[in-house]
Amino acid sequence: MSKPRILMCPPDHYGIEYEINPWMNRSLGAVRALAFRQWQQLHDTLVELEVTVETMTPEPNLPDLVFTANAGVVFRNRFLSSRFRHEVRARESPFFDAWFAANGFGVEHLPEGMYHEGAGDALFCGESLFAGYRTRSDVTAHQWVGKALGVRVLPVELVNPRFYHLDTCFCPLAPGEAIYFPDAFDTYGRRVFANHVPKLIPVAEEESHRFGCNAVVVGKTVVHNSRCPRLAADLEGAGYRSIEVELDEFLKAGGSAKCLTLRLDGEDAAGWKARQ
Ligand code: ARG
Repeated sequence: MSKPRILMCPPDHYGIEYEINPWMNRSLGAVRALAFRQWQQLHDTLVELEVTVETMTPEPNLPDLVFTANAGVVFRNRFLSSRFRHEVRARESPFFDAWFAANGFGVEHLPEGMYHEGAGDALFCGESLFAGYRTRSDVTAHQWVGKALGVRVLPVELVNPRFYHLDTCFCPLAPGEAIYFPDAFDTYGRRVFANHVPKLIPVAEEESHRFGCNAVVVGKTVVHNSRCPRLAADLEGAGYRSIEVELDEFLKAGGSAKCLTLRLDGEDAAGWKARQ
């Protein structure tokens, strides 16, 4: 099997310069030197796991460009570029598009007037593309992506403003297996997961608030934010190795491990990838 490939963007220009989710508070700010060390540790941890980490060039005045998960949806050699809800992030798209075009991907755009925030809100688990909507992405955009890729989309509403992207409260581990924070969804959403993901591991509220669900999965290893002991134990119990990397400077922007990465060769939990 070929090596996993992940896109990251160094935090040279990272900061809390606006407030577009409940975690962000400009007056708290972020300590850039510390953010850099934490980002580097995540990077080095992934390299040790034999991931090929590609880095793109950071850009001034784009403090959230570090969150590459939101660039778009990657499907084989296709890149479906995001349509960000907020103008401050929409300015990132030309840079993401340029990177993907220069790296051999076919860049596609959703119709105007739709909102879609990429792998932040659309995650494959087995054959289905789980699609979080309301705060950022909308259902029409998810349906458009499903049609473009020829896959089944299962929309789930994100009802808790702190969990504004799907990847903050749901993380597929393998086809049919995932961790999630049940309270981020309504009864219907929880039923969707129960019906389509046979092995579901709930994450406790406190650890969900530490972005435990925002994890990077590489084979049987799960990399997530620090101080999530119950999640770590549950993962070990389910046959995974848990690695904690402190990423608290990024929590201040409403992000953690998963948001800082974008899998370029397809997530291990995706049915289409597992069949390759
Ligand atoms: N400040 C960024 C925003 O609000 C954080 C993005 C986090 N990314 C993610 N995939 N959850 O858009």
